[in-house]
Amino acid sequence: MSSQLQISQCLKISVFIFVLVSVSISVVESITSPSDVRALQAFKASIKSSSIPSYSCLGSWNFTNDPCAVPRTYFTCGILCDGNRITQLSLDSPGYIGRLTPLISQLTELVKIDLGNNKFYGPIPPLNSLTKLEILILKFNYFSGSIPPSLTLLKELEIVDLSHNVLTGALPESISSMNSLTRLDLSYNKLTGSLPKKLPSNLIELAAKANSLSGSLTKSTFDGLAQLEVVELSENWLAGAIEPWFFLMPALQQVDLSNNSFTRIEIWKPTDMNSDLIAVDLGFNSIEGYLPANFAAYPLLSSLSLRYNRFRGRIPLEYSKKESLKRLYLDGNFLNGSPPDGFFNGGASVSSGSLGDNCLQKCPVSSQLCLKSQKPSSICQHAYGGKPRS
Ligand SMILES: *[C@@H]1O[C@H](CO)[C@@H](O)[C@H](O)[C@H]1NC(C)=O
Ligand SMILES: *[C@@H]1O[C@H](CO)[C@@H](O)[C@H](O)[C@H]1NC(C)=O
Repeated sequence: MSSQLQISQCLKISVFIFVLVSVSISVVESITSPSDVRALQAFKASIKSSSIPSYSCLGSWNFTNDPCAVPRTYFTCGILCDGNRITQLSLDSPGYIGRLTPLISQLTELVKIDLGNNKFYGPIPPLNSLTKLEILILKFNYFSGSIPPSLTLLKELEIVDLSHNVLTGALPESISSMNSLTRLDLSYNKLTGSLPKKLPSNLIELAAKANSLSGSLTKSTFDGLAQLEVVELSENWLAGAIEPWFFLMPALQQVDLSNNSFTRIEIWKPTDMNSDLIAVDLGFNSIEGYLPANFAAYPLLSSLSLRYNRFRGRIPLEYSKKESLKRLYLDGNFLNGSPPDGFFNGGASVSSGSLGDNCLQKCPVSSQLCLKSQKPSSICQHAYGGKPRS
């Protein structure tokens, strides 16, 4: 009785070991999950075969073989497997032409998608089942339609680069719930509307250059963004005032708001003289008033452009005394008076820039900074309320 029991147990154990061994062999062979294989097949099928060179990643995808099988005779690049699941879809860029199939959403273990620098077109399909996705790079394609709001449900997404496409519509308001998002690049699209009421709170880099965004910069949008280092919103239709809170954001380093329609600016000195701000470009707006002397209180500021606005009055002495300041562009305004001597006698640190196309007196042409000539006096007299000469 007991020996029979032992034999049957022994049998069970050896069957168990056999199963274990064969399972681990199949793991080594990496038999790809059938639904992942179907999704990859659909993905390749939606790309024009004439745009798939034989030397390319997709050219090596041969579905008579298993995608995750090792050694990799086929599927030599484009995917990464973990066990039997696809975790990365990172293509090369020979110029694949096609749509992105919605079936991509079946690759539910994907951590990274990079289809950059190809010719994908059509909408970005809903990706809400890709709950592990951390990186989404679709830059330099022809994706159209709006940014799918379902994208904002992906709570692991850290990096989103949709730049250089033809996306339209507004940024989804629900973007504020993307708590992992640190880098967002939407530059060079056709986005409209204003910035969302609230941006994701862990954002480090916000870029939406060259779109058609309008409205103003409101405090609530940027509230609590304690890590925001880069703001790149040039070439849009943003308007209104740049208020003191903006440059007081604690981690801010680089700001480009050039080529918008801002009309006013107010700058406060940084709290405790503590700020990482290095570069500011506010050129080509319609900002009126005096140059904000308080910029000089930002300890690391090394590049400042306020060119082609409607600034008037004198150049603050502080700008010429600021040691960190290397590039200074103030050309194309209505600045008057004599510029501080420091700019010309080696007292200032500024080594490049321009003070030209203003209403300055005594800008010595021997100085690089004064190469561009000043405005005709008739324009300056008009700007300062004098009667233009007839
Ligand atoms: C695809 O793989 C099969 C099986 O390994 C092979 O016989 C066939 O030639 C391959 N096709 C191409 C186009 O390489
Ligand atoms: C900004 O606008 C000016 C004047 O319209 C234009 O010359 C310049 O190229 C623009 N800059 C960019 C980066 O588009």
